[in-house]
Formats: sequence, C-alpha cells, structure tokens
Amino acid sequence: MYRTGIDAPERVWWRPVHGAEKVWVAIAFAWCMVLFAMMPLWHLRGGQNPSGIRYRVEPLAYAKRVTEFIDQYKVGEESNLPVVEPPPGSHVYLQASMWRWIPVLRLQAGAEYVLHLSSTDVNHGFSLQPMNVNFQVVPGYDYGLRVQPTEPGEYLIMCNEFCGIGHHMMVGKVVVLPPAGLAALGGAQ
Ligand code: CUA
Repeated sequence: MYRTGIDAPERVWWRPVHGAEKVWVAIAFAWCMVLFAMMPLWHLRGGQNPSGIRYRVEPLAYAKRVTEFIDQYKVGEESNLPVVEPPPGSHVYLQASMWRWIPVLRLQAGAEYVLHLSSTDVNHGFSLQPMNVNFQVVPGYDYGLRVQPTEPGEYLIMCNEFCGIGHHMMVGKVVVLPPAGLAALGGAQ
C-alpha cells in the first residue's frame, strides 16, 4: 500500500512504544538531566562567574561620577581622551557612550580594583582584547566587577554590541603596569 501526503497515516500512537524507542527516550532524558546538573555545578565549581555587584544608576549621575573620577586621578591625555591612574584598591569608573570608552585606564598588575561599567546612552559591549572577557554595558545599571590584572601590557576595549554608525570605531584602552615592587626596582618597565 502506498500513501500520498493527502491521506493521513494510520493512527497508531496509542499502541505501546517500541523497545528501541524507549531506550532512546531514556538516553535523551538522562542526557537532559546531565546538562541540567551542569548548570549549578558550573556555577559552583566552574570558576568563571563574574564577581559582579549591580546597582541601578541614572545615566547622568554615572557620567558625573566618571567626571569626578577623571578629575581626581588624571595623569595625562591620549588621543584627546583622559588617561587616569587610580590607586590600587580603588573604585574605577569606565563610561561607554556613542562611540568611545572613557577614560583610558592605567592599572597596576597584582592590585585589586572594582571596575564599574555603565553606558550613558544605548547598550554597548565590553570586550577586553586579547583576553576573552565580555560584559554587557547597559544604561541605567552600574555593573561593578572585582578585578585583579595579572599580566602587564596594553589591552584594547572593543565594543561588541552594535551601537550605531560609529560602533566599529569604539575602541578604548587599559594599560596594565608592572607590579609596584618591580617598578621600584627599576625592572620590567
Ligand atoms: Cu558601542 Cu558598539
């Protein structure tokens, strides 16, 4: 007997499931449970969770806080952007706006900081290169990350959330200085 697409196939779904199919359903279910268990497991043991603190903030208030931060710790300028070197342990404020990241940050390797990220206009994406670090930068929220830079060097901040015509030019910079002890010895500069 042959069927066309017009004839419905014989309705057999109420008959007992074939043994092989039962086995496959069991395997699929067991695998779902494994993946389900991975979520809490990865949260607790994965070591990849951001150390975030999140606050609501008015975009204008955040911009004002960034300006204060820049005035307090500014050490120079680079490509018309303020360069800021906050002391170890301090709160560091980075502002994403169409289409720049301000300020340029100079941080010390080995020191801990709380890095605040927020936007004053639309969503941006904080992507630190060449590290594999990605965070959403959202207007109205101050996202504070506890960070400890390890490797001295220059890092670029790329915007990885499409934010308009200047998106591809939205590049910022973080300079990680050698640990204070090393600098004092005159090495590794
Ligand atoms: Cu900011 Cu894309």
